[in-house]
Amino acid sequence: KKMSDLSKKKKSRPTLFDFNGVSMTKYFTDNWDNIQSFKARPDDIVLVSYPKAGNTWVSYILDLLYFSQTSPDRENSVPLHERVPFLEISIPGFPSGVDELNSINSFPRIIKTHLPVQFLPQSFWEQNSKIIYVARNAKDTVVSYFHFDRMNKAQPEPGDWNSFLQRFVDGKMVFGSWNDHVGGWWKKTKTRSNILYLFYEDLIEDTEREVSRICSFLELSSSTDLKKEVTEKSLFNNMKHNKMANGSADEVLDFKISPFMRKGKVGDWKNHFTVKQNEQFDEDYQRKMRNTDLHFRTVL
Ligand code: A3P
Repeated sequence: KKMSDLSKKKKSRPTLFDFNGVSMTKYFTDNWDNIQSFKARPDDIVLVSYPKAGNTWVSYILDLLYFSQTSPDRENSVPLHERVPFLEISIPGFPSGVDELNSINSFPRIIKTHLPVQFLPQSFWEQNSKIIYVARNAKDTVVSYFHFDRMNKAQPEPGDWNSFLQRFVDGKMVFGSWNDHVGGWWKKTKTRSNILYLFYEDLIEDTEREVSRICSFLELSSSTDLKKEVTEKSLFNNMKHNKMANGSADEVLDFKISPFMRKGKVGDWKNHFTVKQNEQFDEDYQRKMRNTDLHFRTVL
């Protein structure tokens, strides 16, 4: 089994620093030159999200749509994070995302990234690769992020809930400000036809409908049966019990602290925010979102 610094030492959490205006850690910036000069292929599919918006869910859907018929064993033998490599990750002791992607020779490559729009490697724009963006309402995102940072040894220490929430409002999270991320990609979506902007809340409301939207966007002529099968497999409880899709194959995650597939619901923020935290959050949120036509359900 691979051993990295992270699995040996308990206390080796990375620190946050400003990287061209976005808070980052070394695990996403150490390989920067190779990330920026990454060579896209025209049939690449890029799956973008701010952390905790449902990237894993949609990556599983995409992988099933493309490969479950031709490689039925894949979903029981290869962890999802290897099927859908994470472009910017580079943790000592593990292959970098760029190296993993370069060694893939099945088509298409499905590529996970959390990069804000201004950091996406140029090559994806030049190749006009298809891009799917997943957004989730800010309150559920920050709750999910809090529990994730507790259990992920490759993330900075979250501290207590109140200070974590404040850090989120200040935009000092790994991959920066939520508002900048969802807003930056939303603006870009209006100028490019190669981006599909999805919402976690819509996926929860009607997964099969969103699977169909994904198929149309990707020009996939998947049968109704396949769409139904993919929808069924990707339901929270089915993914949660699938070792190749629930994060348990990922060494940096500590399931003794919290599961990766935690709740999978809309509105869990109500179990975390105090009335005062909620009022302060809303005030800041309304100010930041005043000039955008990007609207999230369940927030205000
Ligand atoms: P919660 O912590 O609120 O449960 P990401 O993959 O972008 O890191 O997002 C993780 C969040 O998506 C977690 O949210 C996780 O439970 C949720 N999630 C993952 N798979 C899901 C599924 N099939 N259905 C609903 N939610 C899912």
